[in-house]
Amino acid sequence: MRKDSTRPHILLATRNQHKVAEIEKIVGDVVVVHKLDDLININIPECGRTLLENSLAKAAFVFQLRGQATLADDSGLFVDALDGEPGVFSARYGRDDENRIERLLKNLADKKNRKASFRAVFVYYFAHGRYEAFEGKCAGEISLVPKGRQGFGYDPIFVPDGYKKTFAELGPATKNRISHRARALEKFRKYLEQQR
Ligand code: IMP
Repeated sequence: MRKDSTRPHILLATRNQHKVAEIEKIVGDVVVVHKLDDLININIPECGRTLLENSLAKAAFVFQLRGQATLADDSGLFVDALDGEPGVFSARYGRDDENRIERLLKNLADKKNRKASFRAVFVYYFAHGRYEAFEGKCAGEISLVPKGRQGFGYDPIFVPDGYKKTFAELGPATKNRISHRARALEKFRKYLEQQR
């Protein structure tokens, strides 16, 4: 691990503590992560049509407020048989995680094809008008019923390719190696290494 003085300091533009924990686990050795403080108590905008648009809007918004290098992500679950739904609307597909999962399983009930992918786009916004984007994808299938208690969001119904258990059953050690966020952050890590 490098000393704090040589690692870039990065502000995370998210209030999702699960995401903060995952990001810290995956790239905490190459960056010093700062969480959003309560000074930013305004809702960060999320009205784009793509993960990149949302991620860029969040990163630019926080950078303009704080003037600090900012990392934002937008992510979602894209289900093949539902034409990519809930996709960019994953967080707004229902009133809470349980309700969103229930709606998704109901909409998939008569479909044979249960293939889906989690996708994440990170934007690293480091100077006025200057940013880099990193995308990660994790393919898998939607289970018939929710299983497992770890993780968050749609983890109890997502079985990644090559596994028989959901993300919520597999737990953070496995998820943080193969997830959409892990894959996008791996690209971010390589980018930072090239900048040294
Ligand atoms: P956002 O990126 O904060 O807009 O959230 C996207 C939504 O996608 C979240 O509310 C979650 O429901 C879902 N999501 C994103 N990443 C994951 C994940 O790793 N596991 C489970 N659900 C996720």
